[in-house]
Amino acid sequence: MKVIRTAQGLRDWSAEVLAAGLSLGFVPTMGALHAGHMSLVEKARGANDRIAVSVFVNPTQFNNPTDLATYPRTEEADLAMLEAAGVDVAFVPTVDEMYPEPDTRVFDLGPVAEVMEGAMRPGHFNGVAQVVSRLFAMVRPTRAYFGEKDFQQIAVIRRMVELEGGFDGLEIVDVPIKREADGLAMSSRNVRLTPEMRQAAPSIRKALLHAVELAGAMTPSEVIDATITEINSVPGLETEYFQIVDGATCQPIKAWHESEQPVGCVTVYAGDVRLIDNIKF
Ligand code: PAJ
Repeated sequence: MKVIRTAQGLRDWSAEVLAAGLSLGFVPTMGALHAGHMSLVEKARGANDRIAVSVFVNPTQFNNPTDLATYPRTEEADLAMLEAAGVDVAFVPTVDEMYPEPDTRVFDLGPVAEVMEGAMRPGHFNGVAQVVSRLFAMVRPTRAYFGEKDFQQIAVIRRMVELEGGFDGLEIVDVPIKREADGLAMSSRNVRLTPEMRQAAPSIRKALLHAVELAGAMTPSEVIDATITEINSVPGLETEYFQIVDGATCQPIKAWHESEQPVGCVTVYAGDVRLIDNIKF
């Protein structure tokens, strides 16, 4: 595996791969890699001639300085996992390499970015669009892989790609959520959970599964109320929001027939760790 730390190095490698007529799969990450990230890497490995993974904690998408400062950084372990998974290139840039000048672009991301994470974390999705558009321009991937754990992020990426003219037919591939045996969605932030909160956190998944059962006999807003009550009844868990939205537009629905694929998206504080999860109805 080649470790590339400069934008020019990455552009040169990608140009060679594409000139040889090979397909290029790309997985952007912020590191602290776990089996969830690796499921994206495996899917990319199976469908492309070459694969690149980026490891970069992107400051422009953090609206909370403490979250940025405490974000886990485990470069050595990350590189070992990527090497073992048969990755061709790990791209590990510094902030200066990624942003030689401050990025002042404001993306017109529209309604998909205004709700849920977009409403709770102002500027977050614009920062995601900044970094991912830069990465796409450097890598010029054939396919790029994103996890459904960050359900709304995928819709935002699709919108950004459309705004930027498609990046030469780039295909955005979504990958199902990878979970711990007890149902907790894998996340780099899980290592920050106290033992008590680690025990409480699987109740989030249980409440989402229960929500799907309740949907047969309740309206979306009734399901929302019941689910929030269920999660908040667990000591230490505090729901920030639970919304039922259309899977394509991320807009809240009032009745089940309004959407072909309703998705319930939740954010919960487990102590001071903010966890997200979702479920398809
Ligand atoms: P990060 O949180 O590191 O996640 C990188 C990718 O892994 C994302 O597409 C995310 O959805 C996926 N992922 C994380 N946990 C997962 C799980 N349990 N199951 C399946 N996929 C999972 O998302 C980001 O980084 C950043 O916003 C990024 C896109 C890299 C831009 O900075």
